Amino acid sequence: MKITIIGTGYVGLVTGACLAEVGNDVLCLDVDAKKIDLLKAGGIPIYEPGLDEMVRRNVADGRLAFTTDIEASVAFGDIQFIAVGTPPDEDGSADLKYVLAAARNIARHMSSFKLVVDKSTVPVGTADRVKAAIGEELAARGVKLDFCVASNPEFLKEGAAIEDFMKPDRIVIGTDDERAAALLRSLYAPFQRNHERIVAMDVRSAELTKYAANAMLATRISFMNELAILAEKIGADIEQVRQGIGSDPRIGYHFLYAGCGYGGSCFPKDVQALRRTAQEVGAPLRVLDAVEEANEAQKKVLIEKVVARFGEDLKGRRFALWGLAFKPNTDDMRDAPSRVILEALWQRGASVAAYDPAAAEETERIYGARADLLLSESPMQALDGADALLIVTEWKAFRSPNFAAMKSLLKAPIIFDGRNLYAPAAIAAQGFEYFSIGRRQ
Ligand SMILES: NC(=O)c1ccc[n+]([C@@H]2O[C@H](COP(=O)([O-])OP(=O)(O)OC[C@H]3O[C@@H](n4cnc5c(N)ncnc54)[C@H](O)[C@@H]3O)[C@@H](O)[C@H]2O)c1
Repeated sequence: MKITIIGTGYVGLVTGACLAEVGNDVLCLDVDAKKIDLLKAGGIPIYEPGLDEMVRRNVADGRLAFTTDIEASVAFGDIQFIAVGTPPDEDGSADLKYVLAAARNIARHMSSFKLVVDKSTVPVGTADRVKAAIGEELAARGVKLDFCVASNPEFLKEGAAIEDFMKPDRIVIGTDDERAAALLRSLYAPFQRNHERIVAMDVRSAELTKYAANAMLATRISFMNELAILAEKIGADIEQVRQGIGSDPRIGYHFLYAGCGYGGSCFPKDVQALRRTAQEVGAPLRVLDAVEEANEAQKKVLIEKVVARFGEDLKGRRFALWGLAFKPNTDDMRDAPSRVILEALWQRGASVAAYDPAAAEETERIYGARADLLLSESPMQALDGADALLIVTEWKAFRSPNFAAMKSLLKAPIIFDGRNLYAPAAIAAQGFEYFSIGRRQ
């Protein structure tokens, strides 16, 4: 099939590469000329395991190409995937200006049938708005052309995006149109050879399914984070509690880790957008108000521990920070807890030596060069002369470090662990003062 992907970000690039991988011809469009130039030159704008090779292979085989030419991209694909960003508007609702601009562009240039697929995370009712926008543009052109709009939300996880796309838990397809359903079924056939993964439903249910999934996961995290604060106060250990409840198959082990808050490009904005939708129609999701409030508070928990240990004034102190990305295996720092922590340390006069295996460049892009930020080349380099270590992202490389070397590099052996990577008793035995989340210190 010939596919156009509109928006070549995390979702667009992974979708494009994976659809090309199974034999489709894919053209990825973006308005960001720098990004497209980089891709055309063989570079990859994001860090995502396995993506690099997959993109190169499919470009070399002539199945994957990149463009900024809207007219050419509309002409190319019978299926046009919209995978542009849907950032929060000022009131928290999803800003649909990129989605609607993409839809209008299709309508301005199309000359034959197009199936337009919303892959971006969009509020309920967006497919109708996309349909209306395309209809308006076609009417303005005075032409009558056949098209349909379907919803196909994306569930990939950054850091495991290729695996998730190639072997999805489910492929949600929302449409009432038989042609759209048949085209999408045949497009996704290579991804469900093992068993049926398509969950077909009406458009509005598909749109809501994506928000419901992210809101449920965010709820689990905030629940565990609040429980962790309680555990600390009453002398229980959240890690033991986690295992105790996770063993119940109705609960399960996934997404039950207490930590220093969730971040990333999806949970924060999707929780906000769903709350907003619910308020607008007079069916408020009170649970989600608490989820968001708890998460904002949780991002500050590590700093509160630092302040309790060192005092409010951190002038002249230097802290090592391990992990900047919002989670391991990505360089994404959108709404990352590390940003709240960095800014709180700077605000109190401290400087930071930070290490992240993938997100140093992104940190530089966000904060620029500043005297109170040193981006270290290795975890150990960041520790050199620091007053304490803060662990913010659970990269695998941090799980079993050389504690003796760490002790000799740090000014004092103090660790604030926002991801509960170590066993408190074992680390105390190594001579560290250890502060973690929801466990006895
Ligand atoms: N990142 C994730 O893990 C993830 C997972 C599932 C769903 N989603 C959803 O997918 C959507 C895209 O997310 P992302 O993380 O890939 O965003 P992103 O910011 O990485 O990429 C979006 C891209 O769209 C481009 N763009 C904007 N307007 C355009 C237009 N009119 N024409 C062509 N290109 C345009 C931007 O330049 C950018 O490169 C969002 O709705 C997001 O919520 C993201």
